[in-house]
Amino acid sequence: MSKKIRRAGLGIVYLAVLGALGYTALVQYDVHKSYPQAIQPETGEALQAQIKRGEYVARLSDCTACHTAHGGQPFAGGYKLETPFGNILSSNITSDKETGIGNWTQEQFDRAVRHGIGSHGHLYAAMPYNAYAKLTDQDLTDLWTYIRTIPAVKNKVLENQLPFPFNQRWTLAGWNLMFFRDRVFEPDISHSAQLNRGQYLVDGPGHCASCHTAKNFLGGDSSAYLQGGTLEGWHAPDITPNPYTGLGSWSKEDIVNYLRSGTNRMAASSGPMTEAIENSTQHMTQSDLEAIAHYLKSLPASVAIRPAAINSSDTAMVVGKKVFESQCNACHVSDGSGIRNMIPTLAKNPQINAEDPSSLLNVVLNGSEGPFTHANPTSAGMPDFAWKLSDSNIADVMTYVRNSWGNAAPAVSTSDVASARKDMNARPWLGESNNK
Ligand code: HEC
Ligand code: HEC
Ligand code: HEC
Repeated sequence: MSKKIRRAGLGIVYLAVLGALGYTALVQYDVHKSYPQAIQPETGEALQAQIKRGEYVARLSDCTACHTAHGGQPFAGGYKLETPFGNILSSNITSDKETGIGNWTQEQFDRAVRHGIGSHGHLYAAMPYNAYAKLTDQDLTDLWTYIRTIPAVKNKVLENQLPFPFNQRWTLAGWNLMFFRDRVFEPDISHSAQLNRGQYLVDGPGHCASCHTAKNFLGGDSSAYLQGGTLEGWHAPDITPNPYTGLGSWSKEDIVNYLRSGTNRMAASSGPMTEAIENSTQHMTQSDLEAIAHYLKSLPASVAIRPAAINSSDTAMVVGKKVFESQCNACHVSDGSGIRNMIPTLAKNPQINAEDPSSLLNVVLNGSEGPFTHANPTSAGMPDFAWKLSDSNIADVMTYVRNSWGNAAPAVSTSDVASARKDMNARPWLGESNNK
C-alpha cells in the first residue's frame, strides 16, 4: 500500500504561543541532557537470547512500519510521512556509520527512542517517542542489542523537509512541555500481572493511542483515550467497550483473533490497521494478545450515544437499498451478514456505526486487499467502486448500510463522498448511474 496513512502527529503545533513556550522550555528539555544507562547489554551466549528478545520488542513496537520505505531496505529509513506543512522522512536506523546510527551509543539510542532527542535535536512526534517513553529499561536494552545487528545500509535521509518556520526543531520543546510525559511504565500493584502487561503493550510499544485516541488542536492526545481518532482518510474506531461503536460486543477471543489474523467472526481489517496487524500484532504471542484483549475489555466504555436509525422509507434509504442489491449483495449478503472470516458483516459491526465514515468511504471508493497474515493467508478483497458509482449512489448505499440490520449512524451526504473522492485520490466516476 503506497498511500501515506500514518498519523504525522504534528497538528497545528506551530502556533506562536508554542514557539514562545518552546524557547522557555529549552532550558528544561536541554537537548544535551544525558540519561543514565540503566542496564549493560549481555555478552557471550546470553547476548544471542537478548537479541531475540530485542527483535520481539521491535515487532511489538512496529519499528519497521515507518523505518522501511516502500520497496526499500529494512530499517534504512526514507519512509515519507506527509503533514499539512510538508514532509518528514524517517531516519536510517541501520548500523551504517555514516548515514545510519552505527556510531551511536546505547545512551544516544535511548535519548532518541524514549526521550525524543535525535541526531539533529528534538524529534517530531511523528516518531512515537511519547509512547516508547514507557519502555522498560530491559526492553530498551534488548531492543538496542537487536537494532545493532541490523546490516548497514548506506542511505542518506534528509528527515526534515518542512519549510520555515516548521523546520525549527527547537519549537518542539514547547510541544513536549505540554504533551510529553517522559516516564517509564509503572505497573499498578492493585492490578493483575496480565492487566499490567496489557496496558504496557497498548500504551508503550504498541502505541495504539497514536491512531485510536483523537488529537487536540495542537496535535497532542485528547482525554478521550482510545475512543477513536481520525487519520488522513481513515477512522481508527473506538476500542473501549462501548456496546455500539466500540468493542462492547466483541469477546476477548474476537479481539485476539482480529489482532492475530486480521479477521474475526464479524470484521476484516483494512488500511493502516492491516499494516499494524501484518507487521506487528500477528507476531505477538498468544499470552500478549490475551493481555491486550483483557486490558481493552477492562477500560471504562465511552459514552454510548445511539442515534435513531433513519427510516427505511427515506429516499436515500430506498435508493441505497437498490444500489446494495445490485452491487454488494453477492459478497456481503442481503442481510449484511457477510461470510465468516472472509467478508465482513456489515450488520452490528461497530466500525459501520462510527460517526466518522472515512474508513468505510476509503474502502468503498478505493477497494481494499484485506489482511494477509500467517493465520489468514487467503483473504478476500473488496473491489473499488469509485469508477463505477456516482457520489450520490455511494452516499445512498453508505447511508443504507449504516441504518439497516440494527445499525444506526448519521447519513453520508453526496458532498461527503465528493470530498472523500478528492482527498483519498480515488478514481473519477466513469459512467451512467446503474440505479437512477
Ligand atoms: C509512526 C512512525 C514511526 C515508528 C513506528 C517508529 N519511528 Fe523512529 N522515527 C520516525 C520518524 C519520522 C523519525 C524522524 C523524526 C525527525 O527527524 O524528527 C524517526 C526517528 C528515529 C530515530 C532518530 C534517528 C536520528 O538520527 O536522529 C531513531 C533512533 C528511531 N526513530 C528509532 C525507532 C525505533 C527503534 C522504533 C521502534 C521501537 C521506531 N523508531 C518506530 C518514525 C517512526
Ligand atoms: C497506524 C494507525 C493504527 C495503529 C498504530 C493501531 N490501529 Fe487499530 N485501527 C486503525 C484503523 C484505521 C482501524 C480501522 C480499520 C478498518 O476499518 O478496517 C483500526 C481498527 C482496529 C480494531 C477493530 C475495531 C473495529 O471496530 O473494527 C481493533 C480491535 C484495533 N484497531 C486495535 C488496535 C490495537 C490494540 C492497537 C495497538 C496494538 C492498534 N489498533 C494500533 C489504526 C491503527
Ligand atoms: C467481491 C466481494 C465484495 C463486493 C462485491 C463488495 N464487498 Fe465490501 N468488502 C469485501 C471484503 C472482502 C471486505 C474486507 C476488506 C478488507 O478486509 O480490507 C469488504 C469490506 C467492506 C467494508 C468495510 C467493513 C469494515 O469493517 O471496515 C464496507 C463498508 C463494505 N465492504 C461495503 C461494501 C459496499 C457498500 C459494497 C457495494 C457497493 C461492497 N462492499 C461490495 C467484499 C466485497
